[in-house]
Amino acid sequence: MRIKMFLTIVVVAATLASACVSGTQTNTGKKKKGPNETVRIGFSMDTLKEERWQRDKELVEQRCKEVGAECEVQVANSDDSLQTKQCDNLLTKGVDVLIVAPHNGQIAASIVEAAHRQGVPVISYDRLIRNSDVDLYVSHQVVKIGEMQAQYALKNQPKGNYILIGGSPTDNNALLLRDGQMNILKPAIASGDIKIISDQFAKEWKAEEALRITEDALTKTNNNIQAIVASNDGTAGGAISALPPQLVGKVLVTGQDAALDAVQRIVDGKQTMTIYKPIRPLAFSAVDSALKLARGEPVEAKDKVNNGKLDVPSILQQPIVVDKDNVMQTVIKDGYHKMEDVYKNVPRDQWPKQ
Ligand code: BGC
Repeated sequence: MRIKMFLTIVVVAATLASACVSGTQTNTGKKKKGPNETVRIGFSMDTLKEERWQRDKELVEQRCKEVGAECEVQVANSDDSLQTKQCDNLLTKGVDVLIVAPHNGQIAASIVEAAHRQGVPVISYDRLIRNSDVDLYVSHQVVKIGEMQAQYALKNQPKGNYILIGGSPTDNNALLLRDGQMNILKPAIASGDIKIISDQFAKEWKAEEALRITEDALTKTNNNIQAIVASNDGTAGGAISALPPQLVGKVLVTGQDAALDAVQRIVDGKQTMTIYKPIRPLAFSAVDSALKLARGEPVEAKDKVNNGKLDVPSILQQPIVVDKDNVMQTVIKDGYHKMEDVYKNVPRDQWPKQ
């Protein structure tokens, strides 16, 4: 009986511990902030290239204002040593917590080490920092996004020649997306229903890389391609620009981000789908958690993602499939894009009714 009770207590304690994080990795040095003290947040970003990152920046800044935190944003323009330097700078200036969207998920582990040496907790933003004691990961369900892209492709194009275009191989998301895509595509590859003509990663998520990969596959097959599983909208755009006019709208093309130009291509019939990832809950959860970590308060994190060193407590948002049939009910209804922007290239009499 006693043993049973003891075990129950252990299990309950372990469950509670797994759901909550309080920055215990960072118990050295830095004094925790009191409830009335201003928290200083450093937000280190890899890039502002894709439209979504501009939203991330604005929403993080907006949330900081709302909750009375100070926020300094640094953008590294895909340069690892610059990102490391910028984080060192933020630490020297005395930030209480770092939010990092890493350019390179491996190299950024040294940022976590530097921060922890000063007792500063680190939140991994959108992209996971690998092999480190990072305190929290906030993102979307990335493997699921890859699965949704592949499921959509397979349902609508169950047979034929496929091109797979991954993102930057230094971005953990690119690898998780490919895992998700393969979870779904493997049986169809094994049965011979689909054939993978090309399976590559686009350096730095570049559209030009996606264009080159697509051109090569078109040449190899004499234009016999049925689907392109592109991992984001930037690479989808590159792939579409490689298609000869007679194939645009015929070849199924996936994407991710619900970027304005991609949603325009969707209503124009040039791109087939994208994945909408609401940025507001992501940015807000990062700032709200940053505040808690800086104050030594527990953060509720229901998910866990292994980063090679530990199961990182994670808060993961839900992605949403968008195609021409639900643009109105998703990105437009949410106010992510305006109807007049999305349907800009479509004659007004063909716009859906509001
Ligand atoms: C993000 C995508 C983005 C890509 C390129 C990924 O890590 O999750 O939303 O399109 O990076 O910046």
